[in-house]
Amino acid sequence: MSSDTQLILQAIPFGNGLCLDLGGNKGLLRDPLEKRGYRYINLDVRHFGGNEPSLIGDAHLLPFKDDALDMVVSKDTLEHFLEPKAAVTEVHRVLKTGGQFVIWVPWMHPFHGDDFYRYSPIGLKHLLRDFDLVSLESPLGVFTVVGLATIEALKRIRLGFLEQPLKHFCRLLDRFFTRHQKRPASFAAAYLIVACKPVN
Ligand SMILES: C[S@@+](CC[C@H](N)C(=O)[O-])C[C@H]1O[C@@H](n2cnc3c(N)ncnc32)[C@H](O)[C@@H]1O
Repeated sequence: MSSDTQLILQAIPFGNGLCLDLGGNKGLLRDPLEKRGYRYINLDVRHFGGNEPSLIGDAHLLPFKDDALDMVVSKDTLEHFLEPKAAVTEVHRVLKTGGQFVIWVPWMHPFHGDDFYRYSPIGLKHLLRDFDLVSLESPLGVFTVVGLATIEALKRIRLGFLEQPLKHFCRLLDRFFTRHQKRPASFAAAYLIVACKPVN
């Protein structure tokens, strides 16, 4: 399991309701979320083989009734949505009052070919203005950011085989020196947000 996945899972409490994995791709979160007690639904625009996703659909027009879901997880997807505010408004509509929206989204991260946006902490707060913000953290900080650039440089001089050890080393440094900051770091590879649908 990747360290991004471990970090987002740490932010998700055990529960027993319906949990939507928005843009869940091959359903890597299915097992861990079912083990946490949720009924898991993976919605994605494309089919990935086997039974994934559970639903083909578009984040901009979710095929759920109002107040239907207990939890929505969006890991590495907000940057892919053409109209992120429309998708976030849909999440707000389909979540029950008190339901949680857990997001992992890149900030200082290389372009991966089909990502439209990056979000700063204030951009995220603005985007999520209809939710109560429970936490906004940057578990992968400056060491991972420097590591990502170094890996890119190493690849150019045929030292790409150092990618995995360097990645692990940088994440270890971030674990010890970045996670305990009170405010989200400005040099962050990604942000981890927990938001909650408030009572009207
Ligand atoms: C970088 S992948 C992340 C996949 C998965 N959440 C993970 O972390 O392994 C982005 C995913 O978002 C999906 N996606 C892009 N636009 C979408 C949309 N409008 N509605 C639903 N899913 C979408 C893509 O098909 C892709 O599976």
